[in-house]
Amino acid sequence: MCGIVAYIGKKDPQHLLMEGLKRLEYRGYDSAGIFLCSSSDHQLSKITGKVNELSKILEIKPSIKPHLGIGHTRWATHGVPNDTNAHPHRSNSGNLFMVHNGIIENYDTLKKELVKRGYSFYSDTDSEVLVNLIEEIQAKENIELAKAVQIALNQVVGAYGIVLCDIRKPDELVVARLGSPLAIGLGEDSFFVGSDATPFLDYTRKVVYLEDNEIAVLSKTGNINIKNIISDQSVNPYVEELKWNLNSIQKGGFEHFMLKEIHEQPKAISDTLRGRLLVDQGKIQINSLNEFKDKFLNAKRIIIVACGTSWHAGLVGEYLLEHFVRIPVEVEYASEFRYRDPIIQKDDIVICISQSGETADTLAALKIAKEKGAFIYGICNVVGSSISRETHSGIYTHAGPEIGVASTKAFTTQITVLTLIALKLAELKKTIDPEQLSAYQLELSQIPEKIAQLIKTAPSIETIAKDYSDSQNCIYLGRGYNFPVALEGALKLKEISYIHAEGYPAAEMKHGPIALIDKKMPVVVIATKKTNYEKVVSNIQEIKSREGRIVAIVSEGDETVASLANHVIEIPNVSECFTPIFATIPLQLLSYHIAIIRGCDVDQPRNLAKSVTVE
Ligand code: AGP
Repeated sequence: MCGIVAYIGKKDPQHLLMEGLKRLEYRGYDSAGIFLCSSSDHQLSKITGKVNELSKILEIKPSIKPHLGIGHTRWATHGVPNDTNAHPHRSNSGNLFMVHNGIIENYDTLKKELVKRGYSFYSDTDSEVLVNLIEEIQAKENIELAKAVQIALNQVVGAYGIVLCDIRKPDELVVARLGSPLAIGLGEDSFFVGSDATPFLDYTRKVVYLEDNEIAVLSKTGNINIKNIISDQSVNPYVEELKWNLNSIQKGGFEHFMLKEIHEQPKAISDTLRGRLLVDQGKIQINSLNEFKDKFLNAKRIIIVACGTSWHAGLVGEYLLEHFVRIPVEVEYASEFRYRDPIIQKDDIVICISQSGETADTLAALKIAKEKGAFIYGICNVVGSSISRETHSGIYTHAGPEIGVASTKAFTTQITVLTLIALKLAELKKTIDPEQLSAYQLELSQIPEKIAQLIKTAPSIETIAKDYSDSQNCIYLGRGYNFPVALEGALKLKEISYIHAEGYPAAEMKHGPIALIDKKMPVVVIATKKTNYEKVVSNIQEIKSREGRIVAIVSEGDETVASLANHVIEIPNVSECFTPIFATIPLQLLSYHIAIIRGCDVDQPRNLAKSVTVE
């Protein structure tokens, strides 16, 4: 997600835009830019790095007297962070300037068509394609900018929040959205635009939130016209009076970034699937996998290297890839792998998983594997990060910035990507029945909505947390696909509540850990009605007979475990391979609420950093 800000009116746009961009940096911060326009002149400034870098290249006072400006702070999805890929983007003619937040899925097709018709491109972004599509339509039909935008957006597949201006008619801004938020602030004879209201909170609390498929024209004379892009019907603006303060808006009204990011998971998973899971075409499309499919089809082994939560995602990947693709997978702690002079065989593939793309141990492990001749594939969340740049190829999770130190949406989007890869490779290796593949693809497409429904059960977890917040220790148990989720649940609890917690395969209890069970020991058990369900039930009975307190994550409607556990949290009845994405949600919320009760700093837990860039 990126941060967009714009202004048209009598105040100094440069100051307003720069202050606004600083408030939006939580939405993305790999590059930034602003475009200023007066009635006769304009100025474009953009640079790689945070908004502060942009401030350094701007004159204290712009050489022009602008009344209009658009600004952008980027979280790259297409095209690495650099000066040319930074927004605002201009059209070939130099007349149109645009900022964009979102993903244009069919940008490749549109770009090829525009190139055939003589357009050239200076950047790798999908946004530059959109501004030129608009330009072409405006020129060909000889129509107003807003109309050209409307026609272009009806040709676009994906998500967008855009602000444009035409230097030939600099007395208006055109704003449109589908899937990416845009707020319009109503000032005195002026308009503000922001990805949220934080940029203009000090100037006005009157706001109109654009709805999906709406386009607005904001004029210098203080007029606002909103239309529905599809029906072409005019829309009466609904003006709200903002009550929120700055901090609560940046957190989307949630108390902490971690809770916001837990709730963002439906959208993060949906964005990660976007353009890759094409259910209506009955296919999964991963360009990087397609480009190197021979590497994957000839691979004798896949080694996954990662740290922390990403390592847990790698463990889920092992179950997915071995089950669907029948290829041996080893999952390694990057910190161990890098120092043990690992054996890399010809045709080995090494998958490096990292949210930040900057974890020192994972980067070092990558370089060693690369030197030894492995094909390196990356799964990162930060476009252009060090790890992503060192790989031979890879795929990005589109989770958006993860601010909370405890990883949540990164984990579920990493599993989403691993699931896409496993199903795609299974299709290519013909290790899956086509009908079963279609069924999995359909089920995968329904996950975001089901996760949204599951998160709505959050209040009950807050109640459960009260019974365990004074625990000194906790054990997490899971089997199969959910053994890694038990490890992840334990990590979440220990890193934000400082309660000592350990995850084990449920069957391991008898090999030692059961000695820990007494009435003071809470045990969180993932007991979905899948493989080995009966064995997990007997594990629960063993714990209960020793007065252990049990929180069970169960499949909807399970009465057997409900009769044994002290607390039960239901998750939807989905295919076994999808249970990790669901089972982890209540564990994230349980650790969050326990940490809150204990008065811990949830977003910035003691001793921890978001990205471990040192050994
Ligand atoms: C997870 O909640 C932790 N913040 C930590 O374990 C993290 O997953 C680990 O440091 C790896 O980070 P990366 O995904 O950015 O490489």
